[in-house]
Amino acid sequence: MNVLGIETSCDETACAIFNEVEGIVSEEVYSQIALHAEYGGVVPELASRDHIKKLTPLIKNCLAKAKLTPDDIDGIAYTKGPGLIGALMVGAAVAKSLAFAWKKPCIGIHHMEAHLMAVMLSEPKPAYPFVALLVSGGHTQLVEVKGFRQYRLLGETVDDAVGEAFDKTAKLLGLPYPGGPELEQLAKQGHPSEIHFPRPMLHTADVNFSFSGIKTHAAMVVRALPENRKADIAFAFQEAVVETLAKKSKKALDETGLSRLVVVGGVSANKRLREELAKYAELFCPERRYCTDNGAMVAYAGYLHFQKSPSTNYKIEALPRFPMSESET
Ligand code: KG4
Ligand code: ZN
Repeated sequence: MNVLGIETSCDETACAIFNEVEGIVSEEVYSQIALHAEYGGVVPELASRDHIKKLTPLIKNCLAKAKLTPDDIDGIAYTKGPGLIGALMVGAAVAKSLAFAWKKPCIGIHHMEAHLMAVMLSEPKPAYPFVALLVSGGHTQLVEVKGFRQYRLLGETVDDAVGEAFDKTAKLLGLPYPGGPELEQLAKQGHPSEIHFPRPMLHTADVNFSFSGIKTHAAMVVRALPENRKADIAFAFQEAVVETLAKKSKKALDETGLSRLVVVGGVSANKRLREELAKYAELFCPERRYCTDNGAMVAYAGYLHFQKSPSTNYKIEALPRFPMSESET
């Protein structure tokens, strides 16, 4: 079975083909970073227009690289949401139109479920059950995962996502978009110092998070300190965020009695975060290229869904927000 996966939820146009025997046989990722860089963040309208331009040539390349034709594709999966609605609609319309023309099943995937299943594309794979920390530009969640489609939300952010906090703080530090990886690099030159960032909700009984205060605190610290302290600010910010994520993950593991922890999503590319999480649990993460948005995770999640139910409809569906437990089956 070959599944074509399509991802257009934000600023990456991506597709990939998953083969049930060989795994990912072909993948393409086109990043719109250069397009949005001068605005310091993603401009939704520009993102949609660029997906329209790039997606079909990428799919053609993907098929050619895998030496496959549309006849060899058994199903199409696309990111139905959450994400930027215009960007999602491009992927949804292309996926459903191809499925209609090629007479193939088609399924809309929850973006975070695709991120979660990306951990199964690398070795070693975690055995179920495990606790998953989902950390991206739009989500910060702790989820108990008993199996594919068996998710229980344990806690989540009450305001900003952690990726958003990285990006906004990076911007305040004068770093280019996308800020998360840039801030991580700058923090490597920083040192422990008197600069202190709050750890919001660290000691609450739940496993929820709050990251809006830390961003406001960053604005204050950046204003108060000279240029040559920026690396120390980045260091202090990152330590606060990493400690919060790690301690709450530990709490989630204690609550559920589980020992395996999975971390996925763009922020899971962060080395300090991985280091800290590994102190508390047997840690599993996707390969770095599968942490940020990609087509492989969508193709694979699509394959898992098709295993459960191969049915389809050709209604074009895109949703800016919806819970992972309600994704199509
Ligand atoms: O999963 P992703 O590619 O897209 C969304 O679904 O949002 O995640 C993007 C987020 C951005 O906020 C980006 O700054 C952050 O992940 N990110 C990082 C790192 N790499 C990406 N944050 C911290 N450290 C990194 N190395
Ligand atoms: Zn993502």
